[in-house]
Amino acid sequence: MVDKVIFSIYCNMINSSLDIMGSSWQRNKKKEYYYRKAKESKYYSRASYKLLQLDKKYKLIKEGNSVVDLGASPGGWSQVALEKVGSKGLIIGVDLNKIRPINEENFSFIRGDFTTEKIQEKIINTLNEEADVVISDASPFLSGIKSIDQLRSIDLVESVIKVSELILKNKGNILLKFFQGEDFNHMLRELKKKFRIVKTTKPNSSRKKSSEMYLICLGFKPI
Ligand SMILES: C[S@@+](CC[C@H](N)C(=O)[O-])C[C@H]1O[C@@H](n2cnc3c(N)ncnc32)[C@H](O)[C@@H]1O
Repeated sequence: MVDKVIFSIYCNMINSSLDIMGSSWQRNKKKEYYYRKAKESKYYSRASYKLLQLDKKYKLIKEGNSVVDLGASPGGWSQVALEKVGSKGLIIGVDLNKIRPINEENFSFIRGDFTTEKIQEKIINTLNEEADVVISDASPFLSGIKSIDQLRSIDLVESVIKVSELILKNKGNILLKFFQGEDFNHMLRELKKKFRIVKTTKPNSSRKKSSEMYLICLGFKPI
């Protein structure tokens, strides 16, 4: 009986501290600069600013381009990509989750796992011709265990590169997110054989504490 009472007090203490942590996280999120800016600009995600900043620097997306956005939900990057390509371009968003409403006629959404052949075929069928740019902000499900998360990140990055090689035009570009780790050096060496320019970067709008980085690959050289 005494044990049960002590256990219940212990659980209540844990729940209250989780509530406090949760509400302070919510407060910080609301105060955060890019979160507020995204709300004001009607972007669905603060991540929109990462694409805006990277595109400004590396000129990844041009008017009239076809762009495939892998891991597109809630839709912040697709919104920015639509602005960049204009009415003559085409954007295809792909995600496991639903996306928020994007009503432009030149936007298509495919719901599903882009690592599967079924979804890769759907992407190819939705594109009129090969894509000019592949962008991917896809994040794996993170466990908090560094070694596992790095493996998951590498797997996902490899899938993004595999899909890109299937659908990208000669001289096409890729922008993709990855999480820092030792095994990336090998991948970078391989990518340098397939693209004219390969760079890693971190935009100002990416949180300093986050280990996320972005890989820019310009000028695809299909074999
Ligand atoms: C950080 S969010 C992307 C945010 C988006 N760039 C934006 O600006 O709104 C990462 C997304 O990747 C998606 N994702 C991760 N793995 C995926 C996979 N194998 N297939 C499709 N989507 C995936 C997740 O469902 C999640 O919605």
